[in-house]
Amino acid sequence: MAAKLISTGFRLTTLPENYVRPLSDRPRLSEVSQLEDFPLIDISATDRPRLVQQIHQACARFGFFQVINHGVSKATIDEMVTVAHEFFGMPMDEKMKLYSDDPTKTPRLSTSFNVKEEEVNNWRDYLRLHCYPIDKYVHEWPSNPSSFKEVVSKYSREIRELGFKIEELISESLGLEKDYMKKVLGEQGQHMAVNYYPPCPEPELTYGLPAHTDPNALTILLQDATVCGLQILIDGHWFAVNPRPDAFVINIGDQLQALSNGVYKSVWHRAVTNTENPRLSIASFMCPDNGAVISPAKPLWEAKEEEAKPVYRDYTYAEYYKKFWSRNLDQEHCLENFLND
Ligand code: OGA
Ligand code: NI
Repeated sequence: MAAKLISTGFRLTTLPENYVRPLSDRPRLSEVSQLEDFPLIDISATDRPRLVQQIHQACARFGFFQVINHGVSKATIDEMVTVAHEFFGMPMDEKMKLYSDDPTKTPRLSTSFNVKEEEVNNWRDYLRLHCYPIDKYVHEWPSNPSSFKEVVSKYSREIRELGFKIEELISESLGLEKDYMKKVLGEQGQHMAVNYYPPCPEPELTYGLPAHTDPNALTILLQDATVCGLQILIDGHWFAVNPRPDAFVINIGDQLQALSNGVYKSVWHRAVTNTENPRLSIASFMCPDNGAVISPAKPLWEAKEEEAKPVYRDYTYAEYYKKFWSRNLDQEHCLENFLND
């Protein structure tokens, strides 16, 4: 059965069969722990060496961290959240105008992850947009709600600034030139996924998003301020990353794992559902230019001991992205297809 949008406002009492995971692949929510020492980084701090050190530890240990005093205004965030809720609250026939299950199409409103590739569906609807260059894409964005274009443009611009700030810090934290990432990643694209997870009748049987790593360079996630759902895999154990209303969750994508020669990790994460409340999350993805050649930064392996070598082979981002979307989500780490022999 083909998956359909689930943001209907109608609450089911049992989970439709096409969302039910096999017994061996369920969230086991009672076994998930709270992460006590999850890094929280004030990126307005003026002690640069200390800040860079914090970034290094967070990226090497968790591949994930939260940032506060990030420079994206509260008004911008509040408006973005409001317009996203308004969007998913629109009548089904209005939303269906944007529906597509073709992952190469944008903008698109879709459901699950990749409905044409997957065997079991996921309890998520999502709107996917290209956000850079804004002038190239804004005309194709939804025109309902009427404030959508203006609000999302403002949000995307502010997020991009934050993304560049973090890429600088990450470059420095690897001992590279401050503008290393910016140069290597080329004219970076920016994509947005507005994820909407309706209340789910049986959260133990399914995922909002199953375990995956992000294929891009860097992800900036705005989590619902009150509803939990994001979990990350650390040392083989799942931990909840609970929301802080004043913070963004940042994670290293596959491309920064490759550029860092595996020093930084693009960590497995997933979203789970709950019976009570819809959950909204807004993911902004900084993406290398399609033609950018991704290769482990030379200074990270060249001058090291004899055996040191680049872990990954050179490839273009276009090649990687194609591979990523040809797969189902919960397979091997996509980077494993790009190892050096
Ligand atoms: C994603 C993602 C997590 C969430 O969109 O790639 O991991 O909490 N989202 O919605
Ligand atoms: Ni993700």
